[in-house]
Amino acid sequence: MSTKRLYLSPPHMSGLEMDFVREAFESGWIAPLGPHVDAFEEEFAAKVGAKHALALSSGTAAIHLALIHLGVGPGDEVVVSTLTFVASANPVLYQGARPVFVDSERISWNMDPNLLEDLLKRKARLGKLPKAVIVVHLYGQAANMDAILEICERFGVPVIEDAAEALGATYKDRSPGTLGIAGIFSFNGNKIITTSGGGMLVSDDAEFIAHARKLATQAREPAPHYEHREVGYNYRLSNILAAIGRGQLRVLDERVRRKREIFEHYRRALGDLPGLEFMPEAPWGLSNRWLTVLTIDPQEFGATREDVRLALEADNIEARPVWKPMHLQPLYSNAEYVGGEVAEDLFRRGLCLPSGTKMSDQDVDRVARIIRKVANSS
Ligand SMILES: Cc1ncc(COP(=O)(O)O)c(C=O)c1O
Repeated sequence: MSTKRLYLSPPHMSGLEMDFVREAFESGWIAPLGPHVDAFEEEFAAKVGAKHALALSSGTAAIHLALIHLGVGPGDEVVVSTLTFVASANPVLYQGARPVFVDSERISWNMDPNLLEDLLKRKARLGKLPKAVIVVHLYGQAANMDAILEICERFGVPVIEDAAEALGATYKDRSPGTLGIAGIFSFNGNKIITTSGGGMLVSDDAEFIAHARKLATQAREPAPHYEHREVGYNYRLSNILAAIGRGQLRVLDERVRRKREIFEHYRRALGDLPGLEFMPEAPWGLSNRWLTVLTIDPQEFGATREDVRLALEADNIEARPVWKPMHLQPLYSNAEYVGGEVAEDLFRRGLCLPSGTKMSDQDVDRVARIIRKVANSS
């Protein structure tokens, strides 16, 4: 195939990263931890408006440490958005606890606060409230946080925000990830900024971050020898990757601007097609439009989501279905689920389009042309 392959959201380096990486090489800090890690944490915390930040090897590690700090253990329940990537839920299993999945609301595609409220009321009556709620900000759009926080506060359940996909988005004038007791971000290769792999845990609670920092470095006690009282992990970010992160953080605003531009370009090119709807933007903030996502109604559009995906693939263009909800995953077939069919419907009809910030307008037009052709040929 001769045409250039278009991926969903490939890494996009700015060039600034090299200066930081070179500095790390020249200073000899080719190690876990180091001055770039400290600086990355400080700059990241300032950027999102959190008091403290902890750089880690992944976003998954950040969720895991948050659960440990909150005391989640065997037999406990943790509420999780069902429409997400599996990494949001897996750390619940690492702790021997049970996830309870909650359906999405249409307006944001994120956790439905009404379902959450009913669930917590029922759990309170049973005398067994969940140990935490993990709310996901999907595809760069903040969840309905005022409602979710109010409900969780009423029942005394802490909220961990999975903002892995939502760096650079807003909720009112705040950053998602800074509203609950702790938030996590990911710098995985496909995220809006990347360190090739990495994550960040943020919190305004100094003790939360101090404990997570200790757990992430094999839980070493302060002593000249190696002293250990609790199980630790090797979850810290290396100085080299933090150097890349510092360069990436400097172009975050530019990346958000381009992601939103790409979304608008798709909307202009395809918005008139019947049966095709773009992911809504909830009124409480700006999405970073990490991915441009749309849904296809096969009756009105004249072809299915899968027809469109295959037509794009035939032209060397990567497109992916919306996340398969956790309650439909064989891994979680025994888990409790509350809700209806919103997430299932979004999974069935939703398609993520190439949204890399290196895409040109011509690249976007190429994708749009094929989608239009599928609609016209039916
Ligand atoms: C919603 C969500 N949560 C968690 C993660 C996990 O992040 P990481 O890959 O850095 O472990 C990701 C991305 O991979 C994600 O999209």
